[in-house]
Amino acid sequence: HRPGTSGARGLRFSPVAPNQDDKVTVPDGYAQNVVIRWGEPILRGAPAFDPDKQSAKAQAGQFGYNNDFLSLLPLRGERGRQVMVANHEYTDEILMFRDYDPANPTREQVEIAWAAHGLSVVVVQEQHRTGKLGPVGRHPLNRRLTATSEFRLTGPAAGSPLLRTSVDRSGRTVLGTLNNCAGGTTPWGTTLHGEENFNQYFAHGNTDMHKRYGIGTGTTERKWERFDQRFDLSKEPNEANRFGWVVELDPYDPDSTPRKRTALGRFKHEAAQPRLTSDGRPVVYMGDDEKFDYLYKFVSSKRMKKGNSRAAREHNLTLLDEGTLYVAKLTGDSPTTEIDGTGKLPQDGEFDGSGVWIPLATGTTSHVPGMTADEVYVYTRLAGDKVGATKMDRPEDVEPSPRTGRVYVALTNNSDRGKAGKPGADEANPRNNNKHGQILELAENWDDPASDGFAWRLFLVAGDPDDPSTYYAGFPKENVSPISCPDNVAFDDHGNLWISTDGNKLGSHDGLFGVATQGDRRGELKQFLTVPIGAETCGPVIQERRVLVAVQHPGEVDGASVENPASAWPDGPGKIVRPSVVAVWRKDGRDIGV
Ligand code: FEO
Ligand code: CA
Ligand code: CA
Ligand code: CA
Repeated sequence: HRPGTSGARGLRFSPVAPNQDDKVTVPDGYAQNVVIRWGEPILRGAPAFDPDKQSAKAQAGQFGYNNDFLSLLPLRGERGRQVMVANHEYTDEILMFRDYDPANPTREQVEIAWAAHGLSVVVVQEQHRTGKLGPVGRHPLNRRLTATSEFRLTGPAAGSPLLRTSVDRSGRTVLGTLNNCAGGTTPWGTTLHGEENFNQYFAHGNTDMHKRYGIGTGTTERKWERFDQRFDLSKEPNEANRFGWVVELDPYDPDSTPRKRTALGRFKHEAAQPRLTSDGRPVVYMGDDEKFDYLYKFVSSKRMKKGNSRAAREHNLTLLDEGTLYVAKLTGDSPTTEIDGTGKLPQDGEFDGSGVWIPLATGTTSHVPGMTADEVYVYTRLAGDKVGATKMDRPEDVEPSPRTGRVYVALTNNSDRGKAGKPGADEANPRNNNKHGQILELAENWDDPASDGFAWRLFLVAGDPDDPSTYYAGFPKENVSPISCPDNVAFDDHGNLWISTDGNKLGSHDGLFGVATQGDRRGELKQFLTVPIGAETCGPVIQERRVLVAVQHPGEVDGASVENPASAWPDGPGKIVRPSVVAVWRKDGRDIGV
């Protein structure tokens, strides 16, 4: 299976073949550089990275661990420079510290891990008129936000008793952001960051809601609860309620306190990407990355103000505090045929149907019987359960096309679909024991993102193209690159969808793919790059002349450690493995894929 070097505009490159090489592989004629690695100093006073002399103080001024979402924003008045914002989803202590003892982490190791979480803002500079990018150390916009920085809870549930703790009786001030996975960039110049698997940081869960959010009853793997009792829910039962939100950051204001937007609900937020209604109100699409969890949107009641005046900026920072939160219910439009207990094929030949957005809460008004508005925002999963939302195959990143308005939802996989006691296949989640995932394409009624209904169809049912259950938007499958486990999605200026993967089950490494969503090449999926051993591909940003990816958790393989690394990326044998951001460009200086 190999597509050609021709393709839709923006996708004219020689596809990278699936491989297991311990490097970033890019198409012929393209070049790459490592933009920034874990531990590189970005703030004034931070030391150069030394894996044997790590400290929490040093890490708090250095680029964090496990880069995930990336945003590149314009920087006016500084030629060749842009503002890069990165998420640092989680830490991999066994790959960070020599002689790490998982049963007995030291206070210093735990505090380094706190400082390696969170967000980085770092100005990057183009070098030598190529696509090569590098960090501008000590730039005044550079910033680190960590697991101990101050964040403000805003919106309708801020101050709720459910969000108060013994330390913060206001229920409005939280220390830290955790497990920032993917995110989004708003048209008003801020970035959004999903707090995803926050459950793993909290010990001794003891309520039904702790359980519904995946918080265990025992101790945690990182044992942070030994060093700060807020991570012990038997002592501070509401602390976990202060995580699992969408964070909004103003990267142009280094003194601003980032906000956790309660109006967007609390779940394992993968990402959040807005689209504006015709009258200028943002609608934010969001997935809850859990097997059998839901797809959501938030519709603001306020219009964005254009321009960069102080008044406009202050107004726009309130857009995500007022509006309505919805959850999706999808219905298939045709009878289905069972295929040997492995799933279902629709009898009309297409995986499609209609859907409704069920309102959960508007401001301080709940639309869910038996739940207050505060409860809807803080226990959003329960609200989705109560209204009968459709249980999806792990909704990851969601991205509206800036060209067509159609919304693309990466459903990464679901090994429990169809298991005893679990929901079986349906037309939108058509495979039991779903190893490879699918991408849903959703069209809002009348192309209005605030609509309460939509049409949907599957754009891609991933996996080996020879497997009859796969579907590549109707394109001939002998001419596509195989894909598995779609996670992050992004659009280029041509309207092509770019998809990065996490956990490829086809035996080759994760990577980045591009595919046309319109025209006669719709569905012609082409692989653009692959990542090293153990890594997943994150944060794709597709610019005219540059592709940026975050290579997350390279070398994360069972049994690997600092002493016994599984990967030698990016610096070669004998050097510690470091999650890093990579830029890719064309050697001849022309635009990507034209
Ligand atoms: Fe952190 Fe759902 O990927
Ligand atoms: Ca992800
Ligand atoms: Ca159908
Ligand atoms: Ca993932």
